[in-house]
Amino acid sequence: MAGGKIDIATAIKTAELTYDGRQVALPVVVGTENETAFDISKLRSSLGAITLDPGYGNTGSCTSAITFIDGEKGILRYRGYPIDELARKSNYLEVAWLLIHGELPTAAELKAFTHHVTRHTMLHEDSRRFFAALPKDAHPMPVCAAAIGALATFYQEPESDASIQDAILRLVAKMPTIAAYSYKHSIGQPFMYPRNDLDYTGNFLQMMFGTPCEEYAVDPVVSRAIDLLLILHADHEQNCSTSTVRLVGSSRANLFAGIAAGISALWGPLHGGANQKVIEMLEQIAAGGGSAEEFLRKAKDKNDTTRLMGFGHRVYKSYDPRAAILKETCAEVTRRLGSSSRLLDIAMRLEEGALKDDYFVSHKLYPNVDFYSGVIYKAIGIPVNMFTVMFAMGRLSGWIAQWLEMRHDPGFRIGRPRQVYTGPRLRHWLPVEQRD
Ligand code: CMC
Repeated sequence: MAGGKIDIATAIKTAELTYDGRQVALPVVVGTENETAFDISKLRSSLGAITLDPGYGNTGSCTSAITFIDGEKGILRYRGYPIDELARKSNYLEVAWLLIHGELPTAAELKAFTHHVTRHTMLHEDSRRFFAALPKDAHPMPVCAAAIGALATFYQEPESDASIQDAILRLVAKMPTIAAYSYKHSIGQPFMYPRNDLDYTGNFLQMMFGTPCEEYAVDPVVSRAIDLLLILHADHEQNCSTSTVRLVGSSRANLFAGIAAGISALWGPLHGGANQKVIEMLEQIAAGGGSAEEFLRKAKDKNDTTRLMGFGHRVYKSYDPRAAILKETCAEVTRRLGSSSRLLDIAMRLEEGALKDDYFVSHKLYPNVDFYSGVIYKAIGIPVNMFTVMFAMGRLSGWIAQWLEMRHDPGFRIGRPRQVYTGPRLRHWLPVEQRD
């Protein structure tokens, strides 16, 4: 799949920039949804200066035809399809195909993809020793990152289009197995082999919660909720972990290495790790008597480092559309499973309070995808330290799509940002006895 569909050469407008008496005309690149960018790729050679944009809030690192977000309007689309349509009508494997190949699969393509994914779910038997070598109390995220990285040691074919397709299939198929094994390892239970009679999420659930001692019955409500969560997390344009996958891949490191790096980037509490932090926050509020108001006060206090986890987003400056879908699912899952709605009640009170509060309104802070996902995972029985692994399972297909797009982009170059140096100017080494 070629990269973004915008051809820089077709940019018809320019933006003029004058510096130190010299002028440069920057081509204006306009995307299919009218997003506008100044192409600064010739800036340094023309004016001897670079741009500075900490956190990359104003920097487009690529053109991309995969995901469109309008953060002001709360829009998210994969390959042009609105997220709520996909969430209601599709399943995760279909969405994964859409992201990776650019179009929804035909019936024959979906059948073949599902068949192949189902038949590649087993891990090499030697990988059991790999898991066994890691500490039992290890967080499942680094275990997953290590296990995915280790796939590169089991599959060492030279890179070709065919071997990349095999790697994609293996990753999509084996990710749930690795995720479930990382959990089983942490609780000391036997690994459950995948079962080919189950679908993608049903199989994951039996590997997570089944034991060899009795038959595991997949609950369709739980299975559907997991599938929905995977769809909602599947891609989100150039976020921290996706940019990491692209950057690692830009050195021509293999796909397994890139995905392992993406999992590591996702782990942090400001990114995928926020879903774990949300549930810890809700539990802390519940333990302290359940006062949402008191917590909101702390989150607003600039002398307090507390943040309202699951709120705010670099891109969304209105309601995250994924949070809206999950809020409904959350109520449905807790009701259908008959689980405690205490945490959901606190979450809803926090949201209600924040949406009326001048601080959150003026800072454009709204619930993000992590605000309700944790409550659903909790109701389903997914352990808290596995929440971010669930996010990684969904995001995998987006990472793969973005990695492929980057590798096939005609404008491909190794990623190598510049910097503005602020350290000491030239000075010379002194023998130790002459140093103050
Ligand atoms: N609670 C209280 N204040 C906040 C929050 C929050 N959750 N988020 C941002 N702010 C304030 C922040 O203090 C700052 O205020 P001021 O301008 O008065 O100094 C302002 O809003 C801008 O914050 P920022 O940190 O500069 O914004 P950012 O775009 O760099 O960060 C964010 C985005 C998601 C890291 C941040 O909103 C945050 O830390 N949220 C909580 C963690 C979270 O839920 N992360 C999950 C993100 S969604 C999943 C994903 O895509 O990974």
